Amino acid sequence: MSATLPRRLSAVIFDLDGVLTDTATAHYRAWKRLADELGIPFDEADNAALKGIDRMGSLALILAKDRGRTHDEAARAAYAARKNGWYVDEIARFGPGDLFAGAAESLRAIRAAGLRTGLASASRNAPALIDRLGIAGLFDVVVDPASLAAGKPAPDIFLAAAAAIGADPADCLGVEDAAAGIAAIRAAGMTALGIGTPAELPGADRVIPHIGAFRLDDYHAR
Ligand code: BG6
Ligand code: MG
Repeated sequence: MSATLPRRLSAVIFDLDGVLTDTATAHYRAWKRLADELGIPFDEADNAALKGIDRMGSLALILAKDRGRTHDEAARAAYAARKNGWYVDEIARFGPGDLFAGAAESLRAIRAAGLRTGLASASRNAPALIDRLGIAGLFDVVVDPASLAAGKPAPDIFLAAAAAIGADPADCLGVEDAAAGIAAIRAAGMTALGIGTPAELPGADRVIPHIGAFRLDDYHAR
């Protein structure tokens, strides 16, 4: 079932990785380094399946391919910390030039129209990253994923963003590049805008190839 567009919105809630900036390669390099150390096969297609999935969930999917060996909780925590250290080193170099074209302009246009903006990223590194990208001041609400019971595809993070904004989920547009994220937006009762291709994101109400193609009037009736 597709939402009727445009409709009157009160907020737009964004995913970060893959929507506003490209961190997929940095995540890939860090996971690949860990998988190589552990002798587990891991390629870019495996990495694509981790989009939107939180750190420990991603690790569990990688370790599931390690047949015949088990990894206890302490080992998993150590692997996740190692991977995150490498990832944090990579994103330390990020700056405003790493924003996708049109990302900051879209956030400004939404706020200029009187709508609120929210960030619903599964990444615990999101607050530091939006700071470095120079867009932290463009969000009314940034949800802390550590405060939630369930990650994407559960709706929790999008519902928490709407609640913090004080918006009815039905009046929110969610923007996501991952299938798990689109499922979370739909489960939250919001309109889902996909970034990518319709083949990758069949659950989205609409799909655009990149954030530079975002035009508020396509979604918001003034
Ligand atoms: C999501 C990414 O935004 O954040 C995932 O798409 C990543 O690839 C997840 O695993 C968690 O990120 P972090 O920074 O908390 O390890
Ligand atoms: Mg994403």
